[in-house]
Amino acid sequence: NLSGLDLRAEIDRLRKERNAVILAHYYQKPEIQDLADFVGDSLELSRKAADTDADVIAFCGVKFMAETAKILSPEKIVILPDMDAGCSLEDSCPPEQFKRFREAHPDHIALTYINCSAAVKALSDIIVTSSSAETIISQIPPEQKIIFGPDRHLGGYMNRKFGRDMLLWPGVCIVHEAFSETELLKLKAQHPNAPVAAHPECPPYIVDHADYVGSTSGILQFAKTFEGDTLIVATEPHIIHQMELAIPEKNFIGAPGADGNCNCNICPYMALNTMEKLYIALRDLSPRIEMDEELRLGARKSLDRMLEMAS
Ligand code: 13P
Ligand code: SF4
Repeated sequence: NLSGLDLRAEIDRLRKERNAVILAHYYQKPEIQDLADFVGDSLELSRKAADTDADVIAFCGVKFMAETAKILSPEKIVILPDMDAGCSLEDSCPPEQFKRFREAHPDHIALTYINCSAAVKALSDIIVTSSSAETIISQIPPEQKIIFGPDRHLGGYMNRKFGRDMLLWPGVCIVHEAFSETELLKLKAQHPNAPVAAHPECPPYIVDHADYVGSTSGILQFAKTFEGDTLIVATEPHIIHQMELAIPEKNFIGAPGADGNCNCNICPYMALNTMEKLYIALRDLSPRIEMDEELRLGARKSLDRMLEMAS
């Protein structure tokens, strides 16, 4: 029974005792973002996990992110407050099917979004995140054929932007898929001067209305620099917490789903992590990411390619 415990104080005590670093994604609840040692996008969180000298990485994000931390820092204990914190993109791409997709296209390289399992990473040539995808694709010769998975919206966006014809795996993020174009247009009509910032996991009918398209860190940067007083944010709405901390005088509105509000765009996987579960994970050093060494080394190659090419 945790009632009566000052969770924030207990987490701070355990973080010191365990020599732990707490990493959080922008889609985590505000109370978790506020206590984290570092909050960032997928690329920044991978870099932090690779560089830290902590003994324990407490990863407040989803499982593929914690797995990435383990792949890059195998000697560390990596804990995830809730092991069920998955991702619809990862679920859409079972390794066996992805392997057959690769085998059907032997003259293609596999460029793969980081939102996938370690097994799919091991079957890939180069990993990308939303913030590194453009830099990386621009280094691949135009004649090189590419398969891109699992996010067909990010892949489609890059195909349009770079004039490529990458073959796309049919996965989607259920969160970004839930935005409504009709409701977005109504909101834009109410705020005619407000720009729209969108994540490339959004479908094209949302991205086409955006003034800025980029990763969560990119969107946050845009929020800090746009001219005007109101911004419409087409990504998971918990990122708005960082915008309100950085620029409290401006107005940030989450883009709506079909019901006209942004609550249906809360990531149900990210939401599984709570202060209680983070406390228990630090106390028990469990749930913990464990990984077969052969799988880890396989996945490491494509992640290392990303880190080299993204810098
Ligand atoms: P980024 O933070 O890298 O933009 O990723 C967004 C996302 O959906 C993570 O699951
Ligand atoms: Fe996966 Fe989408 Fe949730 Fe990110 S927001 S973890 S891509 S389901």
